[in-house]
Amino acid sequence: MKTLINEQQLREGVDRLAKELRSHYDGRPLTIVGVLIGSVVFLADLIRRIDLPLRLELVQARSYRAGSTRPGPLVLNIDLLSSDIRGRDVLLVDDIFDTGNTLWELVPQIDELGPTSVRTAVLLRKEGRCEVDLQPDHVAFEIPNVFVVGYGLDYQDSYRNLPYVAELEPSEILEPIP
Ligand code: IMP
Ligand code: MG
Repeated sequence: MKTLINEQQLREGVDRLAKELRSHYDGRPLTIVGVLIGSVVFLADLIRRIDLPLRLELVQARSYRAGSTRPGPLVLNIDLLSSDIRGRDVLLVDDIFDTGNTLWELVPQIDELGPTSVRTAVLLRKEGRCEVDLQPDHVAFEIPNVFVVGYGLDYQDSYRNLPYVAELEPSEILEPIP
């Protein structure tokens, strides 16, 4: 495993993103909707740097089959949303934009609930993997097409607690990445 983005760089990236969001929303109240589970570490750091009146909500997305780096069928659960987002500005926050399918499916589901706006922010965007006609509105870091773990991201449910983002070497992965 080798470090791709260290703790200092993560702090700087999250800070940059928080500034971008503060200036975009310009004092307007915001509902941040984190996508479980991968976004939780990023989310916790990000919201503490955003000086806006904000509400925090969660939804769940699962696409990676256990024991695999290949996505399985995408399962979304927005029932965890507890407050009304009608008429609010919503920012969906996810850990990584890979194929883009998660946000591609989530955005319209959130939009149906009648928010004023829906934007998206991700910690990482993986190069050359996008399969959809959508790009995240805010990206903290662009990364090459490698499998990464740490700072919330997992491989087989492990490594989420690493304080940095690391690249898994092919020998550490139990199957070839497509
Ligand atoms: P997408 O729908 O393909 O954009 O992928 C979104 C989800 O796949 C992310 O929220 C992650 O949970 C997972 N994922 C994609 N690439 C990686 C990776 O390199 N490491 C860990 N999880 C990943
Ligand atoms: Mg995820």
